Amino acid sequence: AGVGYDMAALQGLDDVDVVLRREDVIVSDVVLGHGNFGEVRKAVLKTDGGELPVAVKWLRDHPTGRESERFIHEILLMQTVGKHVNIVSMIGCCLDVNKRCMLVVEYCPLGDLQTYLRKINIKSWYVNDFNVDRVGLPITVNDKENTMLDTGNTSLATNGGSPPMVFNNCYLYHDEENVFLTIEDLIRFASQVANGMVFLEQNHIVHRDLAARNILLSDYHTIKICDFGLSRDIYEQNHYKKSNCGDPLPIKWMALESLKYRVYTTQSDVWSFGVLLWEIMMLGSIPYPTICLSKIYEVLRRGYRLPRPNLCCYRLYEIMLGCWQSNPANRPKFASIKDAIDGIMENQY
Ligand code: ADE
Repeated sequence: AGVGYDMAALQGLDDVDVVLRREDVIVSDVVLGHGNFGEVRKAVLKTDGGELPVAVKWLRDHPTGRESERFIHEILLMQTVGKHVNIVSMIGCCLDVNKRCMLVVEYCPLGDLQTYLRKINIKSWYVNDFNVDRVGLPITVNDKENTMLDTGNTSLATNGGSPPMVFNNCYLYHDEENVFLTIEDLIRFASQVANGMVFLEQNHIVHRDLAARNILLSDYHTIKICDFGLSRDIYEQNHYKKSNCGDPLPIKWMALESLKYRVYTTQSDVWSFGVLLWEIMMLGSIPYPTICLSKIYEVLRRGYRLPRPNLCCYRLYEIMLGCWQSNPANRPKFASIKDAIDGIMENQY
């Protein structure tokens, strides 16, 4: 490793409160994510009470000075913001045998939201699939495992799972998790992200890279906003374009003013939140699939916006459009976005 890196790592660690003992962190071979910037692996942390599943991040082998700087910045930021249910929490930090700094964070078993959403299928509902007791109300389903499904609660939280809401004879099914989802479950993801963003805003933190790939899902489908500032390089590279200062940029998630002046504020995070909302309602599709990155700014400046996803009601689409107001001051605040989304859920969508 470069000399600059070791120094940065050691210097950074001086300010970290929770320095873990290296021998207590048992790293596995399971790679949870990787990219240019570094690698994330599954690990367990030995504690007094037993073992805790965790995720460990490293910088890659020969990081640039800027990468090391951002890594340390990230760690210190995570430490200062403190804990919130919808933010991935930092557990601690330590140096590995090669003096590489490792960041230990809580493990989110369901992985990142983009990958999760892409495994949701819209299936059409044939009468054969269900025993129907009243028109439109399936009571049992015979799926591959031949499970009996109860009626009643159709939400994911208690999903054994119940037959889902049915729209146009279709339902949402997560192939890997083997659960039904409702549109309300999707909207609840968005509400939780907004909730985490209210907290970041209160702590004067601008995320700069809010996107489904940077959101993790924990137990009970709790949303965790992931390592702000660091996470941007962890996943797919092709959404990013190199900027003047060397950091790649997530063009399709960026607000007009960020594209033009590289200005980032909570209100530019609100724009990205709108795109994230669109990703959720499109089950993980790539935004503006036909527009190349170099044209995005011009297309948006002329007033074009992402179209309303089929699963998205008009009230929710209005929130998206609000997030994409050209003038940042006209965009809603995260607190009111959260209230509006919760209002939509209360009215049964
Ligand atoms: N991928 C990246 N970070 C992760 C985490 N904390 N838990 C699970 N998967 C991850």
